Amino acid sequence: MNKLMIANWKMNNVVLDCVRFMEDFVPKFSAKREAWIAPQALHFNLVRSMGEPKDVKAGVQNISDQLFGAYTGETSPKTLRAMGGHFAIIGHSERRQYFGETSKSCALKNRTCLREGIVAVYCVGETLAERDAGQTLSIIHDQLLQGLNDVHGVNPENLVVAYEPVWAIGTGRTATPAQAQEVHAFIRKVLSEKYPGVGDKMRILYGGSVKPDNVEELLSQKDIDGGLVGGASLKAKDFLALCGDK
Ligand code: 13P
Repeated sequence: MNKLMIANWKMNNVVLDCVRFMEDFVPKFSAKREAWIAPQALHFNLVRSMGEPKDVKAGVQNISDQLFGAYTGETSPKTLRAMGGHFAIIGHSERRQYFGETSKSCALKNRTCLREGIVAVYCVGETLAERDAGQTLSIIHDQLLQGLNDVHGVNPENLVVAYEPVWAIGTGRTATPAQAQEVHAFIRKVLSEKYPGVGDKMRILYGGSVKPDNVEELLSQKDIDGGLVGGASLKAKDFLALCGDK
């Protein structure tokens, strides 16, 4: 399966930054790897239309588990789909930490997205305290089983799992390739057991201080199928390098 790099711009970039990024990125992008971008929701349509010629897919950083109605401030997966949106990041650790999301609430979002034809990019990851206490794999196991509870009809095209150790996000501290590989192999095993015949083919992305100078080593690991990238995805030159276009 093709390697996949997802840019998570978080709450960064004004509209002109987005335009400049896309003007710099798209012409040089060779599609060696897939590139998906999650800008702020207000910039979604701009990024989608500018990325279209090279099939750079656009998505959102958060999504509602409801389709329509009195849910002030939410983004509907149905509306996203109708606007040409491809994917939604679900359960990012910043949403768990600052907005009270739980694996249980993520299960509703994962379910709704799959039903509406939006690819769910479901994030899991342990904190430093959990890693130090030797709980990494059990935390990941719980997050996977709870977040994918009653999530059916999945295939390698509509569900992506991102492993983002919380202690490696925005800290400059990357998991070593071996540390990441250990968790990715574990995630692969859990997915294969839960979804026989398809789980072993799903893409598992690593996130947490991925940069041009560490990406190749990470991607050379057997079970690392791509990256979910914050800081280094904000500059077109760096994101091009992450996509294998120097
Ligand atoms: P950084 O790449 O800035 O560490 O962020 C990772 C992340 O949270 C991507 O979702």
